[in-house]
Amino acid sequence: MPFPILSPEEAAAHVFDGATVAFSGFTNAGAAKVIPRAIAQYARNLHDGGKPFKIRVLTGASSGASIDEPLARADAMSYRAPYQSGPRLRTQINRQEVEYVDMHLSHLPQTVLSGFHGKLDFAVIEANEITPDGRVYLTSSIGASPTYLKYADRVFIELNDYHSMRLREMADIFILPPPPHRSPVPLHEPLTRVGLPYAVVDPRRVLGVVKTSEPDQVPDFAPSDEKGRRIAEHVVRFLVDEMRAGRIPDEFLPLQAGVGNVANGVMAGLGDSPDIPRFKMYTEVFQDSLVDLMERGKLLAASTTSLTLTPAVLRKIYDNMDFFVPRIVLRPQELSNHPGVITRLGVIAMNTALEVDIYGNVNSSHVFGTDIMNGVGGSGEFTRNAYLSIYMCPSVARGGKISAIVPMCPHVDNNEHSVQVVVTEQGLADLRGLGPMQRAQTIIERCAHPLYRDYLHRYVERSRVGHIRHDLELCFELHRNLMETGSMLPDRDLSAADVS
Ligand code: COA
Repeated sequence: MPFPILSPEEAAAHVFDGATVAFSGFTNAGAAKVIPRAIAQYARNLHDGGKPFKIRVLTGASSGASIDEPLARADAMSYRAPYQSGPRLRTQINRQEVEYVDMHLSHLPQTVLSGFHGKLDFAVIEANEITPDGRVYLTSSIGASPTYLKYADRVFIELNDYHSMRLREMADIFILPPPPHRSPVPLHEPLTRVGLPYAVVDPRRVLGVVKTSEPDQVPDFAPSDEKGRRIAEHVVRFLVDEMRAGRIPDEFLPLQAGVGNVANGVMAGLGDSPDIPRFKMYTEVFQDSLVDLMERGKLLAASTTSLTLTPAVLRKIYDNMDFFVPRIVLRPQELSNHPGVITRLGVIAMNTALEVDIYGNVNSSHVFGTDIMNGVGGSGEFTRNAYLSIYMCPSVARGGKISAIVPMCPHVDNNEHSVQVVVTEQGLADLRGLGPMQRAQTIIERCAHPLYRDYLHRYVERSRVGHIRHDLELCFELHRNLMETGSMLPDRDLSAADVS
């Protein structure tokens, strides 16, 4: 090994106040683990001695338990991009203690290359091998690590022997050159490979290697509830009808499924349906429910940028690599989320909303339009470019106190021009070919909870007439009620209703 072996503390001591540090990790999969914790401790020690220390943090996507939470607990972050999902960091962002850039994930490598996140002082990348000439074999996610390895001034490798050495057989790594040198990416189906099994680093920039054996800390999903099952039933029925109408071919089209409990439940529902043929996925996150589908032969193949799997499920894959290697490709996020490829493959995108307005604009990220939940993540590039873009969510949250169907979203991540289908446990609204008034009627009738339907119809009737109807005095009345009273509708209306 030509690189110095360091302790996590020795690596952390190189990092200075104000440094920009790019970590591997797309979700907790493949996230750097021991160095971020050591940096957090280093920050605490400096703070105890009255010295300032905060770093600017980049990852592939959220990396809660491994990176965000320890650093947030140590109050050691001033800036974060491109996605997060940690409760403590979320609070710091919403108090404006941490500047957070919530952005499309496929844009990240380009914005790094263009210097918009500042100079990359350090990259901390989990790998299971680095060769003397600088080939880096990544672990359970690829994310933005190839870009970070290429552009960071100084690099630390977390050499993690927990992961299977055969992950490299799934890896397909390729960095898009800057324009105008971008040829079409020759990906014609999810398993096509266009790159190399390793990322590349200039070995002279590698300051050292830290050894570890820690598994990824991916949390369990909540089991699918009744609402999730009903959402899945509506989606399955719709996709089967689309096949019968000849709009989805018999061999089906690749699926993308977003993050969260609803999406995980819907994938399980699709897998259980005898009416849905065997399918492939072109997605960014490979979640627990997909492993079972692959073992049962329902899921034939998947392209992703991360294996976001709980430890027991990841172990299943590592114990049976002969089966999984030919079926999974791991790519950088600029390819897993590449708009051109998503359009070419005719991906069916299924993402989750916090709320949807009566015209089909979606808010997945900002409660009250002000407080970040997680971020837009990859939902935008899939929603805008997919053959079919579906949004799902329960019609109400918090026992009916929150309606997911609202007159106007106070923040919009994906707009009515890209969103084609909205689904709640109440039903499914197919918005294709519908004008604004038809969209409003369809969404209210099919997707809103009965408790909120009259209110929403009345809102439309009373609003100013234009191409789209709105009442700028009242469009956020439900949100205002929620902020002021804890409920979008008066409690007496809720107590009389069945909000199951
Ligand atoms: N207003 C306020 N809070 C709301 C809400 C609304 N309209 N709708 C839901 N919530 C709350 C829920 O009550 C719940 O809070 P709790 O845990 O305190 O009860 C929380 O939001 C999460 O709801 P849940 O139904 O468990 O959501 P989920 O796990 O399915 O995740 C998103 C939903 C939208 C948060 C998640 O999918 C996300 O972050 N999406 C954006 C990024 C993305 O789509 N990435 C994928 C691209 S590949």
